[in-house]
Amino acid sequence: MLRGMRKGLTSYGDPDFSLFLRRAFIKAMGFSDDALSRPIIGIANTASDFNPCHGNAGALIEAVKRGVMLAGGLPMAFPTISIHEAFSHPTSMYLRNLMALDTEEMIRAQPMDAVVLIGGCDKTIPAQLMGAASADVPAIVLPTGPMLVGHYKGEELGACTDCRRLWGQFRAGTMDAQAIAEVNGRLAPTHGTCMVMGTASTVACMAEAIGMALPGAATTPATHADRVRIAEASGAEAVRLARDGVRPSAIMTPAAFRNAFTVLQAIGGSTNALIHFTAVAGRLGIPVDLELFDRLGREVPVLIDLKPSGAHYMEHFHWAGGVPRLVRELGPALDLACATVAGLTLGEIAARAEEVPGQDVIRSRAAPIATGGGLAVLRGNLAPGGALLKRSAASPHLMRHEGRAIVFTSVEDMVRRIDDPALDVTAEDILVMQGGGPKGAPGMPEAGYIPIPRRLARAGVKDMVRISDARMSGTAFGTIVLHVTPESAVGGPLGLVRTGDRIRLDAEARRLDLLVDEAELAARRAAWTPPAEAPRRGYAALFHGHVLQADGGCDFDFCRR
Ligand code: FES
Repeated sequence: MLRGMRKGLTSYGDPDFSLFLRRAFIKAMGFSDDALSRPIIGIANTASDFNPCHGNAGALIEAVKRGVMLAGGLPMAFPTISIHEAFSHPTSMYLRNLMALDTEEMIRAQPMDAVVLIGGCDKTIPAQLMGAASADVPAIVLPTGPMLVGHYKGEELGACTDCRRLWGQFRAGTMDAQAIAEVNGRLAPTHGTCMVMGTASTVACMAEAIGMALPGAATTPATHADRVRIAEASGAEAVRLARDGVRPSAIMTPAAFRNAFTVLQAIGGSTNALIHFTAVAGRLGIPVDLELFDRLGREVPVLIDLKPSGAHYMEHFHWAGGVPRLVRELGPALDLACATVAGLTLGEIAARAEEVPGQDVIRSRAAPIATGGGLAVLRGNLAPGGALLKRSAASPHLMRHEGRAIVFTSVEDMVRRIDDPALDVTAEDILVMQGGGPKGAPGMPEAGYIPIPRRLARAGVKDMVRISDARMSGTAFGTIVLHVTPESAVGGPLGLVRTGDRIRLDAEARRLDLLVDEAELAARRAAWTPPAEAPRRGYAALFHGHVLQADGGCDFDFCRR
């Protein structure tokens, strides 16, 4: 097999000339023949002025390079797309597949024997894992790490669970304009990823659990010296992976995915992670069974006491022992023989986990945060392809609820009317939003966290049942049914719901049903027309033409194995 500079030569019809030319150009950077004969370790650089979650990427790259050179390799950093949640129009999910394509093709196009993937903000690690799975070049994930917590008037604050909670208080009139402006500067006090168990933290923990990141890589704060040491170690391990030819497909096996999904349930993680890891699995030809995922949830209690489901933040999880300590607690629920990029099995890593006396962030199985599953998969005539409810962040009194539907036909319609004082809505009603799916919005925005109508919020209503084909931020909370599949924009039953219909949610029975008789539904189906013309050019056309539904991980159909 070709290695180093000989890999993937540019095609000029004369391979020896291609190598001669490549070496001539790279020598312009001052490299010696000795350096160019070493294993080449690519470093995916996702630094961007638009991405504060990756604000430490430069320092991490320097440390990775040091680790690579100490292990006898040649580091080569290269840029890829970087995606930040708040700087991605229309939504970061719309761009995730573009980043996956970029990462895959840059790994394949450039001569690297292994790659270190520096990611962090929500969609970046999923995109990198998708790209690495398809390229199947030895790879190691290096998260940028979580932020430290913020403080306001003696209270600990975390992005972005507290962003939503306090904004809700501002909407309800219990927090004034000056206070919300002050809070705005305290919610994200350092660089790094959101420090609650949102999507970024969830996928980082799953990347560690599936074996693609080093122990501690998910939880070590972005600002700590240990984060830099993990970067150095990741560089050194990448050289070993290159020499041994350990590919992502050898790490991310069906058993490793089961481990990752078990950890997702045990951490009360983000609903988005199910979509992302379904996409990664699809790249390796590994099917994801939603019923198995739901069963894992019933068997595995939520053990991590982190916001938004619990009370603490990522740095507390880290000092309690992090993912290795959680893995030890889960024990037989996991396949501990799975290999990792650390060169150890998952069980060997768990055996070395730190024991922290008195910590209460990682609960024992005998004293969990919640039982019955962090995430529940719902089925029913409203979601024949499945829907997801984050039970651990929902209100117990709404887990079984029947109510009148108040329908919004799009995200824009919801934004326009939700606070209209004339909106006929009560706390017992069910808010339904159509047009928030992968094709409909497009990009399945995190708009499923439909705000409580201002009039009800001001009357003290904290939660209502809300249903959509959109996603929600992993940092959000409430009785919110998401990812209704198939989406309304492709003719799913969600698009047939009308204001006044009755809907029944039964989380224990895992049911979501529209209580309208079949003859009426058939008539509505016959009269249904697609909401908008498909885009014709550029990435929008590619996305609309090929994006799969949530049960396909919202990947492009042509990227699955
Ligand atoms: Fe980047 Fe939350 S905005 S992780």
